[in-house]
Amino acid sequence: MKKYILIPFVLLFALHTFAQTDKNMGIIPAPVSIVKNKGVFVLDKSVVLVNEDLESAPSADLFNNFLAAKGDFSLKREKKNNQNQKTIVLTSKGANQLPSEGYVVTISSNQIKVVGKGAGLFYAVQSLLQLMPAKKQAQIRIQNAVITDYPRFKYRGLHLDVGRHFLPISFVKKYIDVMASYKLNNFHWHLTEDQGWRIEIKKYPKLTSIGAKRNGTIVGNYPGTGGNDNTTHQGYYTQDEVRDVVAYASARFINVIPEIEMPGHSSAAIAAYPALSCFPDKDTFVSEKTPWYGDRNGKQVQQTWGVFDDVFVPTEDTFKFLENVLDEVIALFPSKYIHIGGDECPKEYWKQSAFCQQFIKDNNLKDEHGLQSYFIQRIERYLNSKGRSIIGWDEILEGGLAPNATVMSWRGENGGIAAAKLSHDVIMTPASAGLYFDHKQSSSPDEPLTIGGLAPYSKVYNYNPVPKELTFDQQKYIIGVQANLWTEYVETPAKAEYMIFPRIYALAEIAWSQLENKEEKNFNEERMPLHLARLDQTDTNYWVPTPIGLNESVLNGQNFSITLKVPVYGAKIYYTLDGYRPSENATIYTKPLMVDVPKGQKKVLKTIVIAPSGKRSVVTETILNNASAEIKTK
Ligand code: ACM
Repeated sequence: MKKYILIPFVLLFALHTFAQTDKNMGIIPAPVSIVKNKGVFVLDKSVVLVNEDLESAPSADLFNNFLAAKGDFSLKREKKNNQNQKTIVLTSKGANQLPSEGYVVTISSNQIKVVGKGAGLFYAVQSLLQLMPAKKQAQIRIQNAVITDYPRFKYRGLHLDVGRHFLPISFVKKYIDVMASYKLNNFHWHLTEDQGWRIEIKKYPKLTSIGAKRNGTIVGNYPGTGGNDNTTHQGYYTQDEVRDVVAYASARFINVIPEIEMPGHSSAAIAAYPALSCFPDKDTFVSEKTPWYGDRNGKQVQQTWGVFDDVFVPTEDTFKFLENVLDEVIALFPSKYIHIGGDECPKEYWKQSAFCQQFIKDNNLKDEHGLQSYFIQRIERYLNSKGRSIIGWDEILEGGLAPNATVMSWRGENGGIAAAKLSHDVIMTPASAGLYFDHKQSSSPDEPLTIGGLAPYSKVYNYNPVPKELTFDQQKYIIGVQANLWTEYVETPAKAEYMIFPRIYALAEIAWSQLENKEEKNFNEERMPLHLARLDQTDTNYWVPTPIGLNESVLNGQNFSITLKVPVYGAKIYYTLDGYRPSENATIYTKPLMVDVPKGQKKVLKTIVIAPSGKRSVVTETILNNASAEIKTK
């Protein structure tokens, strides 16, 4: 019995010690600089926590609450630093010299001094919290060091699509908490979609009474290989809930950017108010391939995924509707940016509509792309007049970019490059660089249902958001980077967690850490395993990575020496070489594998990682091939 109680403590102590020996002290994202010094600061309940000014009080609260919740004690608080006491001092004095959002933490044997203001102080505490052991300890030994830190990009974003699947406020807050821990500062809340309108608009109650509900959802990959689930999917956020989320995020230095999609991806709004369509009397088109449940007549909220022809008609009534919606949105979100979508708007109904064709002529527009540009520019003018700026997906470049728009480049980098060359701000979020977190994390058949695509964390890690094509002057328009979680195949918080971890660690590092501080080996072998080991002790789901050092392909040779490392500290790697699927009954990996393969034969190395919690990785397969001389000379 005793043995079983002891194991977690041994592990936790090991985790903590491990963090201290790492060059980055286990911190994700890697700080600008860490200079380690001799000695340690011993944190125990005799230490006094000093916040010198009002501004540093919330960060001091955050630190003490963490200690109280996760540690063995909390600290006595004071407003003044007393030289005779061992202290942790939080201050904004001297922070004016620091870069925006920057901080300095100086750990010496009798004091930890934290200098920063606003977000900087908050991020300093986030780094300090990452130095703490995961569970209760009466004495915490912290390596003496000076940590200097500030971000590479001012915009560090994470997106969440709640249109395809509604996710509860409790999860939205958890998502925001995770973002804050990793110094991400813009939460892009994708609130309206073809499959659901998710925000209460008082002037238009049908947006939620009709638009927030669909009768069913396709099962399996598009177009619905597994039929329809014949189940009502619904949900929306009340304005009170939205205000609560915005305040919650703001306390964590996260700006919430609402996305109200236009002119495409608007089926749910059109189902609620058919007059927003070019053809109000036309039934919503349902392809023969789409398994559908319930009424097919009139305008319907979509039950399958994709892009739909029924988009907003550019009438004065539509613009008035959108302005009224945006008035309520602006009142809820203090964000400078309002995202107005602009992506994937088919032009088919505009081509067929006599009204739209006349509109194009009357307004001297070139074609339907000109109409899209007119649409976006008109909404931009409205939002600019209210003191806000628009963000749009890179399609807003087509037909002419709105004068003050920020472009979110998702179809590769070209849109972002073109926008930067036009002196527009750009947020890079190319699907091709692994920033679509709805894509799968490995090519193993064990991966759960996803939309497809392959975006392993290593791909995210190796992405540099500043394209080489840009001159030094143009590079400054790349204001940051973002990852997106689309939820066609993400029905639950647990699946959303599975999709974001550990990729969010890589995102944080490319968004925050200086290019010269990025070091993949250190990330893969030291810090990611540490953070996943801590996560493994919580109720948060995650994708357990495959063994570090494994090359999942065909290796040619005769004598193979394969060195693997665990991707979660404390996890175990099991393997087989006999073709069987590995489990905890297979051979445990303890030392480099030496495998001899006879000439002309091959062996298949299969691995699985099992974390301390019992969570399992997908099974990998590596073919160890000793091609015969005859085959080679062929
Ligand atoms: C997008 O993925 N349609 C922005």
